[in-house]
Amino acid sequence: MADEEERFPLQINGTPVRTPIALASMAGVVDAAYARSRAAHVGAAFLGGYAVDEPTIAAALTMAGRGRSEFVFDDPIGAMQREVVALEGSGLVVGLNLRAASPRGFVDVARSIGPSVVYEIDAHCRQPEMVGVGAGEALVHAPDRLEEAVRALAAEGVSVSVKFRAGVGDDREIARRCWSAGAEVLHVDLMDLGYPKIRELRNTVPLTLIANNSITTFDRMREMLSHGADMVSLARGANERTLAGLDAAIARYADDQGWYNSPKQLCRGGDVRSLAFCCMPVKSCPLIPTLEKIGLSRDRYIALKLDSVRGTVLEGGAQTCFGSLAWCCKASSPCMFRDMTLAQAGVSKKEYMQAKRRLSQQIMREVFAVPPGTA
Ligand SMILES: Cc1cc2nc3c(=O)[nH]c(=O)nc-3n(C[C@H](O)[C@H](O)[C@H](O)COP(=O)(O)O)c2cc1C
Ligand code: SF4
Ligand code: SF4
Repeated sequence: MADEEERFPLQINGTPVRTPIALASMAGVVDAAYARSRAAHVGAAFLGGYAVDEPTIAAALTMAGRGRSEFVFDDPIGAMQREVVALEGSGLVVGLNLRAASPRGFVDVARSIGPSVVYEIDAHCRQPEMVGVGAGEALVHAPDRLEEAVRALAAEGVSVSVKFRAGVGDDREIARRCWSAGAEVLHVDLMDLGYPKIRELRNTVPLTLIANNSITTFDRMREMLSHGADMVSLARGANERTLAGLDAAIARYADDQGWYNSPKQLCRGGDVRSLAFCCMPVKSCPLIPTLEKIGLSRDRYIALKLDSVRGTVLEGGAQTCFGSLAWCCKASSPCMFRDMTLAQAGVSKKEYMQAKRRLSQQIMREVFAVPPGTA
């Protein structure tokens, strides 16, 4: 695991994620056996979805009756417990995708199964029966209820993920509410909104972001990772060949480049993390409006970067544009001054990018110090 932890410095529910690829749930399909058979190429699996209280079980029965594939159990908690046990020792971060009509339905599962798994609120399902009982996508249309469900689960001391379709409600509002209520993960079906939506969410909350929908090529995976996603997930395309290809490609990329989800430069459409590559705020470019938008003064931005790099490989760089590698561009942008500085210090480009990643974490911590409504 040590190599993987360095490759992918990513944890969910306090557990290292061995590769930033997840299995997204498909009701009636994604269970422990399905996840085990793909465990070599994924880091997390969201089993289900499971209907967990009376109204949603009734809805699932009606849906199954009209031919939809569903998991329907008289004793869903017992069934889920068996699935969780079947994945012990698999090395996967396990999540349970749950449909409930009230916070109580989610909480009862968490109390029975405990903190070893992630509880994913299914705010995604748009089947009329599920929405009709106030579950699935109904929660996106009633953000107060969604927030209440997140808060109730988080109060049980468990890790909470929220799965939803982008573009259905006010995505930034949903994200902020999930953050302030204690969610750890946002699992976002981007529909056809693509990477601009993931960037918008990255610029809104510090939660772990899983990008979903038709991400079956490495180009598309990198597109998501370079605009703020921490992971990608697959449902329909989660065959072994595709998963193995993505897993191998992202491992190679991380080993080569040092930062598996490095952002683009801000002026090339990068998200807030790309402030790690930005210059001193001295010219007319997207930096100054971005600082204004996130409420970081120029002086604080300068102090934050200089303080964060003190004692690191980024501190030096007298021959670079602004006198320190703190202000230097991505390793992929050609620059002989930066490269000379790195060569003289015996620092590889990979180490440089790893240091930039740590700098971006410090910036993120400052930008997202306080969830909305809790100051
Ligand atoms: C047959 C099927 C069942 C699904 N069931 C669920 C579900 O129970 N809960 C959920 O959150 N998403 C469910 N989804 C949505 C997927 O997890 C995923 O968001 C969607 O298929 C888009 O991702 P993809 O392009 O990788 O398939 C289901 C999708 C399919 C195709
Ligand atoms: S500060 Fe530099 S890297 Fe950042 S947006 Fe401006 S020109 Fe681009
Ligand atoms: S020295 Fe090179 S890498 Fe550093 S800020 Fe100037 S142009 Fe960018």
